[in-house]
Amino acid sequence: MSRKKVIAGNWKMNKTPSETSIFITELSDRVKQTKDIVICAVPYVCLTAALKSAKRTKIKIAAQNLHFEDNGAFTGEVSTDMLTDLGVKYVIVGHSERRQYYNETDATVNKKILKALKAGLKPILCVGESLDQREMGVTSDFVRYQVRYALNGVSSEDMKNVIIAYEPIWAIGTGKTATNEQANDVCKTIRETLVELYGRRVANAALIQYGGSVNVKNANELFNMSDIDGGLVGGASLKIDDFDKIVNYNK
Ligand code: PGA
Repeated sequence: MSRKKVIAGNWKMNKTPSETSIFITELSDRVKQTKDIVICAVPYVCLTAALKSAKRTKIKIAAQNLHFEDNGAFTGEVSTDMLTDLGVKYVIVGHSERRQYYNETDATVNKKILKALKAGLKPILCVGESLDQREMGVTSDFVRYQVRYALNGVSSEDMKNVIIAYEPIWAIGTGKTATNEQANDVCKTIRETLVELYGRRVANAALIQYGGSVNVKNANELFNMSDIDGGLVGGASLKIDDFDKIVNYNK
């Protein structure tokens, strides 16, 4: 079946609100022809500027995190109400940097996925193995486990709003991309896991991205693999010319 592609830039802790306005305005000009879904995941403080510049364009704006509680004594955190009130539609959940540096666990990732869906936000759920795990040969088991845990309690109906990003940790920010086959194999494993959980129809419709050193040179081949429905792009999404070429990979 043919699925849409979703190409998302994960800005991480980069760009100020002023830089955000300039970038999104420029990008909107360059994505006019695309049939794919284009998302920029920007820092919290850049959301307002990004949403303003993205209005009436093809670009969708995502947050990079959320809290699973409604409100309360959680200094420095941001709730789903705060995001939806701004008009945010997408949110990254469980990025490996958050798992690594901010003690995010499979349990909190699951809570955040459920919370996002309840609030009407579309989560981009990140999963992926470390280099040790790949070398031990447990990639497939580990990623299956992460997907099952994160989606615990998510209905088939809600799966329409979930995007999954397979991001091998060893490929993030390292310049080491997974080969097309390595990336596709794990995306296929994720799809098979979705078949077990939700059946073939839901699994075939699910959007599964690859992330980890996606760049101008490898985007086309990666995005044309059978089970890869686009990419989550870090470093290369910060440079307008590079992200333009990645979004327009098929030209
Ligand atoms: P990278 O980051 O493209 O810089 O490797 C990807 C990500 O962390 O989402």
